[in-house]
Amino acid sequence: MRKGLNWVYSIERTILSEKDIQARVQAIAQQIDLDYQDEEYPIILICILKGAFVFCADLIRCLNIPFEVHFMDVSSYNDGTQSSGVVKIEKDISVNITDRRVIIIEDIVDTGLTLAYLKEFLDGRHPRSLAICTLLDKPEARQAEVQVDYSGFQIGNEFVVGYGLDFAQQLRGLPGISILKPEVYQEDEE
Ligand code: PRP
Repeated sequence: MRKGLNWVYSIERTILSEKDIQARVQAIAQQIDLDYQDEEYPIILICILKGAFVFCADLIRCLNIPFEVHFMDVSSYNDGTQSSGVVKIEKDISVNITDRRVIIIEDIVDTGLTLAYLKEFLDGRHPRSLAICTLLDKPEARQAEVQVDYSGFQIGNEFVVGYGLDFAQQLRGLPGISILKPEVYQEDEE
């Protein structure tokens, strides 16, 4: 079992504060409100667990339009810092999305492999529209093409934790987005 990580010794620096994030979350919610203001039926938000749960919780509290929120548990990183490239659906949604307007809520688009897979998977259920909303976008790391409709911040190719994002399932509770000290994950690679 991995030992507990004390954030004080694990973090190199914080790149996005709680305040920076809240301002962007509010701006994204306003844009979504505007884009879906004329909808007769609630839009469907699909929160991709586990990383997106903090972002999604804040985003939904800024939205004014009618919506439903559903959860899908998808995993591709196992316990390391590199995407395994193999996307596994641990828990599917139970709602029927055919002919509905859907937005996937993600914490980060990194290689893009998770979202490329998910987009195709959910498109197969014939939603009326399928948009992607992510808090963080790491364009330098992209291996699969993904069209992102709502993006909070573009970041460099560094391993980040906090605000829902983990390292080995830990550090999700940090209020901002921080860069992990390389020695924390290098210990694993040795
Ligand atoms: C993270 C993140 C995205 C995915 C993005 O999930 O939440 O779903 O990786 O990476 P990609 O663009 O390289 O595919 P992870 O597999 O770490 O699971 P978790 O959200 O449960 O921590």
